[in-house]
Order: sequence, then C-alpha cells, then structure tokens
Amino acid sequence: MLTVEGLVKRFGGFTAVNNVSFRVEQGEILGLIGPNGSGKSTIFNMLSGTLIPTAGSILFNGAEIAGHAPHRIINGGIGRTFQIPRPFHRLSIFENVALAGYYGQGRHSRARADEAAERALAMVGLPTDRHASVDGLGAAGLKKLELAKALATGPKLLLADESLGGLDEHEMDQAADMLRKIRDELGITIIWVEHIMGVLMRVVDRVMVLDHGEKISEGLPSAVASDPRVIEVYLGTDADSSQAAAAEARRKAGV
Ligand SMILES: Nc1ncnc2c1ncn2[C@@H]1O[C@H](COP(=O)(O)OP(=O)(O)OP(=O)(O)O)[C@@H](O)[C@H]1O
Ligand SMILES: [Mg+2]
Repeated sequence: MLTVEGLVKRFGGFTAVNNVSFRVEQGEILGLIGPNGSGKSTIFNMLSGTLIPTAGSILFNGAEIAGHAPHRIINGGIGRTFQIPRPFHRLSIFENVALAGYYGQGRHSRARADEAAERALAMVGLPTDRHASVDGLGAAGLKKLELAKALATGPKLLLADESLGGLDEHEMDQAADMLRKIRDELGITIIWVEHIMGVLMRVVDRVMVLDHGEKISEGLPSAVASDPRVIEVYLGTDADSSQAAAAEARRKAGV
C-alpha cells in the first residue's frame, strides 16, 4: 500500500530524517517508535503533505505523492491525527468531527460528513449528540477526538501520532485496543507512532525503530524488542527525562 524510498528531511543544516525506506502492507498495523526527536512526527508530516521532503519517494497505492498538498493526500485516502490536539473550542465535538469529514472527503456533501462524524464518534466512544462541548475532554478524550476527526475523512491508511499522550496505563491500553478495532472492523491500515514500547508491541504486526532520523531496526515486535541497538537507545530514558526532551523538541519545533 505504501512504499517509501530514501526519505530525507533537512531543516537548514540539521537532518531530522535521514534516508529512511520502508513498506506498509494493506491491512497491517506498523508501529513506529524511537526516542524523542528521532523523526517520527517529521515522517508523518511528509506522508501527509504538511512538510515537503528534501529527497525521497512516497508511493501510495502505486502513485507518487511526495510533495503533494495535504488536501490532495487526505482526499486520496491518507488520514492522520496530530500529536498535540488543537480542536476548535467554539465548535461542539460533533461539529469538529463533521468539519474534518467535510473537508477530508473533498467537500462533497454535509449530509455525508455528518454521517461520517456519527460513525467515527461511535467508533471511538465519544458522544454523538450535536452539542456536547470539547471543553470537558481530558487528555484521553482529546486523543479520541483526534482519532474521530481522522476517521471521518474516510482514510484507507491512518497515521496515528499518539506519543506523549499524558494517558495513564489503562487509557493507553484502551487506545491500543481501539486502534486494533479500527483495523479489524474498518479494514484501515495503520502506522502507529508511540515511544512507549510495551503498549505498542501488544497490538502491532511489525515495528520500525528510528534513532536520530535513521532507521536502526525493523521486524516482528519480539525480534525488535531484543535487538541490542534498540535496547541501547532505550536504556536510561526514564519518564522524566523523556518528557523533558519532548518539551524541548516541541519548543524547538515551534509548536
Ligand atoms: N519545523 C521544524 N524546524 C526545525 N526543526 C524541526 C522541525 N520539526 C522538527 N524538527 C526537529 O527534528 C527532529 C525530529 O523531530 P520530530 O518531531 O519528528 O521527533 P519525534 O520523533 O516525533 O519526537 P517526539 O517523540 O518528541 O514526538 C527534532 O530534533 C526536532 O526538533
Ligand atoms: Mg512526535
């Protein structure tokens, strides 16, 4: 479904993604992991058209999409969530999702967008009534809203940037189960970014590991988890220091 070859992204003299190649098969859940700042979101930004690659090719169902505008990519069937949710606070939960559906499906019809919103909200377990406010949503609720918005666009491939969730263990497990349900029941292929290996390993078919913008390991979860290079990258990263590094990465990225 997706074939990425030699993907590179430089910001000035800094190389955030360095010559990364990978494939995603139809119906698969691929886990994308790596420490803070290793280039995971930057890859998603290139796959979804938010960033133009410095070099490389992205074939989606056989067609080159590298450098295409985000609306073309989303209309073509690649949906995404954002790591940092930013809903429209003056719109209800339902309106946020219907709006994503309307634009994401190429502005065909409001009725179709509303139907897509209802289905997406039911799938993630958020209220489908038209007036429920976004303001009461906690971290887990906002993640579900992100997921519902992406689903309402009708993706064939879903890019789920779920890292830094601020979720507790139970909520993490729920999020993992939800992604599996989306694949199993809707047949949507998924790339899931998360830097806590334990949660992700339970659900994914395959894992790819990034470090400093380079792919350092790829394969079945069990093999990757015992790969010495992967263990080395993850050693000594306790929760506090990775949160601090994440905050720094966000500050540098200006978001
Ligand atoms: N627009 C930008 N301009 C400059 N540097 C950027 C930009 N976007 C990302 N970077 C840098 O590129 C590197 C990779 O960032 P990226 O956001 O892809 O990391 P990540 O793997 O998603 O990390 P995290 O786990 O913290 O979300 C970081 O050093 C980041 O500061
Ligand atoms: Mg990120």
